[in-house]
Amino acid sequence: ADTLGAAAAEKGRYFGAAVAANHLGEAPYVSTLNTEFSSVTPENEMKWDAVEPSRGSFSFSRADQIVNHAQSRGMDVRGHTLVWHSQLPSWVSGLGATDLRSAMNNHITQVMTHYKGEIHSWDVVNEAFQDGSSGARRSSPFQDRLGDGFIEEAFRTARAADPNAKLCYNDYNTDGVNAKSNAVYAMVKDFKSRGVPIDCVGFQSHFNSNSPVPSDYRANLQRFADLGVDVQITELDIEGSGTAQATDYGNVVRACLAVSRCTGITVWGIPDKYSWRASGTPLLFDDNYNKKPAYHAVLSAL
Ligand code: XIL
Repeated sequence: ADTLGAAAAEKGRYFGAAVAANHLGEAPYVSTLNTEFSSVTPENEMKWDAVEPSRGSFSFSRADQIVNHAQSRGMDVRGHTLVWHSQLPSWVSGLGATDLRSAMNNHITQVMTHYKGEIHSWDVVNEAFQDGSSGARRSSPFQDRLGDGFIEEAFRTARAADPNAKLCYNDYNTDGVNAKSNAVYAMVKDFKSRGVPIDCVGFQSHFNSNSPVPSDYRANLQRFADLGVDVQITELDIEGSGTAQATDYGNVVRACLAVSRCTGITVWGIPDKYSWRASGTPLLFDDNYNKKPAYHAVLSAL
């Protein structure tokens, strides 16, 4: 196959990109998206501040634009994200425990119901653990007011809202075996043992010189898969250029393909110029949508 999506499909996987609604009017952006990718993740449009900017008042128009585009082209959609400390409106962080619990559950229910049957996987909870050696939860309105149980509650609410969506926990700096991924691993193991509904773990995989592709990436993906969940590479980007960057991208793809429950890969943007990492060149296409060496490495690894 000669596109990322088609090559991944031959391996039973999807190959996706984060998409921003405000670029859908740019012809080469859309043609690259349509040609190469089989899944999309709205980059910001499904986040809490975008869909529920004030309490109980939902606005789905930007996210719907992306979902409609994807559906018209037969692409899958990853939902990102329901419960996260960032891009969270201030009205949420100002609530007391009782109100916060009902606001969280209502948010999950309303958003998932709006997209019921249209999302293959949802990032139900994003980035709930701290970096570093503690393995502790990150301070957030949810953690601080509701305690450790907020994650379990979010997943149970999500399962009830759309029983057919795969429910994922998503995080960064969990790509290799380390204290943070050990803490996520322990949580997933506990959820599986107690019947808390969780189907997948997302590994953001934002790599740079401080946080390179770990040598135990495949082993880490495999140990999660062995708990009985799917694993997905959800926000891949790798700073760098040329052959070194291409080699890293190829290694990421090979790690996923070596794990049968690694069901797909999403890169966090299409051309370098629209990367959230404004200063680098971390993606597969240059600013003029030319295929970079990294693109060719991915395609040949698939
Ligand atoms: C980023 C977006 O790419 C930016 O446009 C936005 O300004 C901030 O968020 N982890 C995540 C993503 O889960 O939602 C983040 O996306 C990148 C880090």
